[in-house]
Amino acid sequence: MRVVVTGAAGFIGSHLCEALLEDGHEVVGVDCFTDYYPRRFKELNLLNARDQAKFEFIEADLRSDSLEPILSGCDAVVNEAATPGLLLSWDDFDRYQSTNLTAVKRLLDAAIAVGIGHFVQASTSSVYGADATGDEESHCLPVSPYGVTKLAAEHLLRAHSETADLPLTILRYFSIYGPRQRPDMAYRIFCERLLNNEPIVVFGDGLQSRSNTYVSDCVDATIAALHREPDGSVFNIGGGQEVELLHAIDILAGHLGVVPVLEHRPARRGDQRRTCADTTRARKELGWEPTVLPEEGLRAEVSWVRSSLGLD
Ligand SMILES: NC(=O)c1ccc[n+]([C@@H]2O[C@H](COP(=O)([O-])OP(=O)(O)OC[C@H]3O[C@@H](n4cnc5c(N)ncnc54)[C@H](O)[C@@H]3O)[C@@H](O)[C@H]2O)c1
Repeated sequence: MRVVVTGAAGFIGSHLCEALLEDGHEVVGVDCFTDYYPRRFKELNLLNARDQAKFEFIEADLRSDSLEPILSGCDAVVNEAATPGLLLSWDDFDRYQSTNLTAVKRLLDAAIAVGIGHFVQASTSSVYGADATGDEESHCLPVSPYGVTKLAAEHLLRAHSETADLPLTILRYFSIYGPRQRPDMAYRIFCERLLNNEPIVVFGDGLQSRSNTYVSDCVDATIAALHREPDGSVFNIGGGQEVELLHAIDILAGHLGVVPVLEHRPARRGDQRRTCADTTRARKELGWEPTVLPEEGLRAEVSWVRSSLGLD
């Protein structure tokens, strides 16, 4: 297969490119290095893929560049490009609207024009709202503008897929973690603070829980979805074990051999309270299941953070 991966320089996109290349596919990676976090991190993410003969990287912005020439001759598109994170979405809505919606519309139009065989959209558990604990038929009531843009993108995709010939799959990822995790994400921040003997700020009571998904499990699910005949299905993609925030901090501190100092602050607007992925459909239809447990996955993240800081 020749697969276009947008957001190829990002956390998940870069792992996905590498896994597809390892499986022998040709990969066209697209990214415009948005300034949501520094370009230098994204260039590092791309290093391994850039070494591979079957990898082509195109620096392009889905919001403005011509996309048909990029997609032409490709079999599938996996859209990992977006502005993630919910905090900034309250204040910089234009950024979220343009990268998470306008960009999707342009990518869709190009995909339909060139006759792409399969469009896979990376969506999120944030479309469900404060509690993401049910199956894919649960009500979607997002509590952040980020979640609203991602849900709107799902609707946009469905409208196009049902009225034009665009085979579609939607994957709702649940809190992905592991090496290359974005610098704004909790576990990475916690590791860095623990290593610097700085207090960890806990928003709320710390009992909020996440269905953490190790990045290789997320990538495996995405590739399994790519290989399945697309029929517009939506799949929850989440780790098998729910972990409370305070417990995750203890695991990280244990791996680093330090005692955490916590600073409690009020919960933030739009934070999810509980995510626990019901992955019954993905297990049945994709033949996929998460394999990496939190202890093991957090150990790998700790070890990556240490080496990226030059400590190992
Ligand atoms: N990381 C998670 O826990 C998580 C959870 C649920 C869903 N998701 C979704 O997974 C996808 C990937 O997330 P991530 O954590 O890897 O984020 P990331 O920010 O690391 O990667 C996204 C990449 O997309 C690129 N990009 C953004 N807008 C673009 C545009 N207009 N044109 C070209 N490139 C553009 C960015 O430069 C970035 O490199 C996103 O769609 C996100 O909503 C992530």
